[in-house]
Amino acid sequence: MLLSTKHLIDTEFLTLEDIALILDTAKSFEEVNRRTIKKLPTLRGRTVVSLFMEPSTRTKSSFEIAARRLSADIQGFSASSSSTVKGESLVDTAKTLNAMACDAVIVRAKAAGTPAVLARTMDAHIINGGDGKHRHPTQALLDAYALRKHLGFEGLAGFEGLKVGIVGDVAHSRVVGSLAPLLARLGCQVTLIAPPTLMPARPEVLGCSYTPYLDEVLPQLDVVYMLRIQLERLEDAPLPSLREYAMLYGIDRARMQAMKPGAVIMHPGPVNRGVELASEAVDTSKNLILDQVNAGVSIRMAVLYLLLGGDENVTAA
Ligand code: CP
Repeated sequence: MLLSTKHLIDTEFLTLEDIALILDTAKSFEEVNRRTIKKLPTLRGRTVVSLFMEPSTRTKSSFEIAARRLSADIQGFSASSSSTVKGESLVDTAKTLNAMACDAVIVRAKAAGTPAVLARTMDAHIINGGDGKHRHPTQALLDAYALRKHLGFEGLAGFEGLKVGIVGDVAHSRVVGSLAPLLARLGCQVTLIAPPTLMPARPEVLGCSYTPYLDEVLPQLDVVYMLRIQLERLEDAPLPSLREYAMLYGIDRARMQAMKPGAVIMHPGPVNRGVELASEAVDTSKNLILDQVNAGVSIRMAVLYLLLGGDENVTAA
């Protein structure tokens, strides 16, 4: 184990040294991911369980690709194919997996706090792949990585003073719970921008300023980080309509023109086209959306490698 923590439950439990090490290790793996043969023997003989109890395209597939590229054995479980559908409790499922002596479990769950419960119940390293509307640490790390790469700096000092607006469904987003405090800790000036009905009751706990007025702050931002409207988690109709939301908070051609020269759009995906981003904003080189996806494989290789403590020569063939 090369990090200061056994599990990756959230970015808040990582030291700045851990964060720098994860980003730098991901950079080594990015070079591997450009090779024709993208496989290293580093985690040969280790068993990684992928326990996804909520839908996922990016996190699940990039973790599974990452584990295979490090030669780990990966076993997938989904909510529909596991015994949780027969009523088995989370703790009993965790004890069952523990009895199979797996080395790491990547978990995505509807309920906030599930990864922490597994960490208390299992011997394996637990990696949070997104829990409810709580936290999504590897998304935050890959976002930091993609931004650092785009801006072309090494280390962490280049984050200092960057103006980042995180826009949209702050109340229901697990991404913001990990990303906003991480960027604030790295020295970014983070502003949360959302209609009052999509802002959490106490946004100040995320360590950022906040406002409902996107157009007032947009021209000052270096990074416009758009959150997906979490349609599956909305209760009590917090929006009059998606059309009105898009008019007030969506990035369209006019808002792209209002952005600071050189500013970039980011989005964790999946995008609701025409809601938080108009098609022009999805299909423009001003956004880093696919760079974020690309960074996901290298970051998740780095997290697996650093937690499972593989071979020190990470790029050896
Ligand atoms: N960004 C993200 O977590 O995407 P998935 O839900 O597809 O994993």
